[in-house]
Amino acid sequence: MRLTEGPKIRVPVPGEETKRIVSLDETYLATGTKGSPVAIKWGRGVRFEDLDGNLFLDFTNGMVAGTGHSHPRVVRAIQEQAEKFLFFNGPDFYYEVQSRIAQKLCQITPGDFPKKVFLSNSGAEANEAALKLSRSATGKKQFVAFLGAFHGRTMGALALTASKVVQRESFFPMMPGVTHLPFAYCYRCAYKMKPETCNFWCAQILEDLYFKSVLPPEEVAAVFMEPVQGEGGYVVPPVGFVQKIKKICEKYDILFVADEVQSGFGKTGEMFAIQHFGVVPDVINLGKAMASGLPMGATVFNSELDFPVQGRHSNTFGGNPISAVAALATIEAIEEEKLLENTRRMGDLFKKGLMDLMADIEEVGDVRGLGLMLAIELVKDRETKTPARELRDKVIENCYKNGLLLLPCGTSAIRFTPAMVINREEVEKGLEILRESILTALKN
Ligand SMILES: Cc1ncc(COP(=O)(O)O)c(C=O)c1O
Repeated sequence: MRLTEGPKIRVPVPGEETKRIVSLDETYLATGTKGSPVAIKWGRGVRFEDLDGNLFLDFTNGMVAGTGHSHPRVVRAIQEQAEKFLFFNGPDFYYEVQSRIAQKLCQITPGDFPKKVFLSNSGAEANEAALKLSRSATGKKQFVAFLGAFHGRTMGALALTASKVVQRESFFPMMPGVTHLPFAYCYRCAYKMKPETCNFWCAQILEDLYFKSVLPPEEVAAVFMEPVQGEGGYVVPPVGFVQKIKKICEKYDILFVADEVQSGFGKTGEMFAIQHFGVVPDVINLGKAMASGLPMGATVFNSELDFPVQGRHSNTFGGNPISAVAALATIEAIEEEKLLENTRRMGDLFKKGLMDLMADIEEVGDVRGLGLMLAIELVKDRETKTPARELRDKVIENCYKNGLLLLPCGTSAIRFTPAMVINREEVEKGLEILRESILTALKN
């Protein structure tokens, strides 16, 4: 496969080989969250070939590998490390790449104060560590999170998650001590207010109502926030909302924890999404794209919060040497190949294309996002904003049949998060397929 070829559907999807894998998966893998029936043979950048020889554009991969499929620099680092050693009992002994990735994370995250890192294997685990760290450092037990938020599916992280009820259903009781507030989702304001005149009531309500009626502020350890809600719909809050929540945190000595598992590592055009809001968090949680597709999570925190004694928190594989070198190579690629600049340029181009779609098609109710973390929300009509969920699902299916892989988010939104290495031609081709797919879905 040439890297510039495609998308090209050679046999109707899913082809026979793909169907075979889908069937094997359905038989042996626990029911999860699978989407379009597509199985990869190999990939580079934002392109991949499926098992039946079809060539796709992958506008979902940036969520997990901002550097794209099998970035050569990352592959080389993994190969070289694998030749040296695969493990060295990380929680018990020492190796340089584990310390180096922690040092690098402390250097590139916002905050001009000494920091430390807990390394783990996933986003949920990064959030679990932040929950424990917050309780251990403050001696307080309560947390604040937001409706629409996704922080993971382990029992602690799940107590923070409030994106879709299916994620919580049948798992109660949750970890106690989490109060959820509506998020600043201005397109569908929970208070039916207007952003021009609301004065960020959705933030102020924490102090004016919650702290006075149900939640004593002196018992709150931390506020957890995704600076851009991911699973909840790629919702970008106003700068003033994030700043107001941070101010309230400072006033009442509450930690501000930014969950950047989805928004971090360059996708928004800044290394971390919180940098768009002029806020410095006490804790930043990372995962997904940080090791270009290898399992890795990190909780980066103000050193003052560190666990007081050995053994209070640990794990086995956190910062394992393969993930550690992959993360170092990922950061090197972002810095040396100017991927943030490309993300901003391609993000602007992409967003303009989405705005053009909104100008032409009534059912595209909203376009939002930062950099290459973009979304459209489909509605039945613009006045009522009734979510057009079936239309959304049909559009994703049509795109898939035409060689463009996409994922949903929120109730009726489609997220676009191609890897940061995407070029102009790939953006334009994706937009073309998207437009045709929406128009076809509307005709039927
Ligand atoms: C913002 C956010 N936090 C946490 C998680 C959980 O990460 P993981 O699936 O690696 O446990 C996710 C996953 O989608 C996420 O988007």
